[in-house]
Amino acid sequence: MVDNKWEAAGFVTEPVPEGTDMKAEIRRMCSEKNAVIMAHYYTQGEIQDIADFVGDSLALAQQAAKTDADIIVMCGVHFMGETNKILCPDKKVLVPDLNATCSLAESCPPKEFGAFVKAHPGHTVISYVNTTAAIKALTDVVVTSGNALKIVNSLPKDEKIIFGPDRNLGNYINSITGRKMVLWDGACHVHEKFSLERILALKAEHPQAKILVHPECKGPVVKVADKVGSTAALLKFSQEDEATEFIVATESGILHKMQQACPQKTFLPAPPDDSTCACNECNYMKLITMEKLYNCLRYEWPEIKVSKQVAEKAVKCINRMLDLSAQ
Ligand code: 13P
Ligand code: SF4
Repeated sequence: MVDNKWEAAGFVTEPVPEGTDMKAEIRRMCSEKNAVIMAHYYTQGEIQDIADFVGDSLALAQQAAKTDADIIVMCGVHFMGETNKILCPDKKVLVPDLNATCSLAESCPPKEFGAFVKAHPGHTVISYVNTTAAIKALTDVVVTSGNALKIVNSLPKDEKIIFGPDRNLGNYINSITGRKMVLWDGACHVHEKFSLERILALKAEHPQAKILVHPECKGPVVKVADKVGSTAALLKFSQEDEATEFIVATESGILHKMQQACPQKTFLPAPPDDSTCACNECNYMKLITMEKLYNCLRYEWPEIKVSKQVAEKAVKCINRMLDLSAQ
């Protein structure tokens, strides 16, 4: 996805001048422009290190809702920038590379999801935060991996629910709650790639290691977990648990914070099914580089835009999530 208005205007960012102290310049521009840098745990280590706030998708939304900065630079994927913009319509929200989309969000096109909703009258629509603004506009309540169980449990037992787009997270919640939510058939290309066989082989080599699993992974991988949770929940568990070795089945960027928080512990990335590729990396998150962050602050571009009509609908289901999460 590109920002056509800027492309049409022939706008090209210049290379970072040689000898620039990018870290110092990024911090200087943040102070000058009253900008805040937020980063997801899956971004590159140096991006996490320069950010004002690093978190999971829930914490990033909560932080955006209360920031008094004029500019939010969201170092993460497009839907995270959209969520911030929807919560803060009067602020400038920048994402350093608009090509940083999300395979899970893309697995749920609005036209098809709209038809799916129509085909299930009387159902409450719950959408994972990894969705486009257009999907949120069709949603009753948003959830993240950090609060999905709590929010589903807060609804009456007999409530009919559509859950989208992640079939793995939906199946996990159905298995825990005994509900029969109707699931959209979407998934994340990174989390679906973890190999149960290779995780068990790694466990055999490290029998003391605890297995940490994000609920976007497939059911058989979730089943062998010692802890299932959002990135923030897995990070917290790794800090608080007495184990000193962990096999981590989520995007490998989280290992940066885990290792920083507990330098004496060992964190092993769970292997994907293809040993020849870095499939446990989210190629979209890794598009965010220091150079793009620098240019993004310098030019205040690319900016996230959400139409007023979509934002007015979408904000209700995001606020409902923030309210239910706080209870
Ligand atoms: P968290 O909600 O754990 O931050 O996960 C977001 C995500 O994109 C997982 O792939
Ligand atoms: Fe989307 Fe998967 Fe990347 Fe998370 S890891 S941002 S779900 S593509």
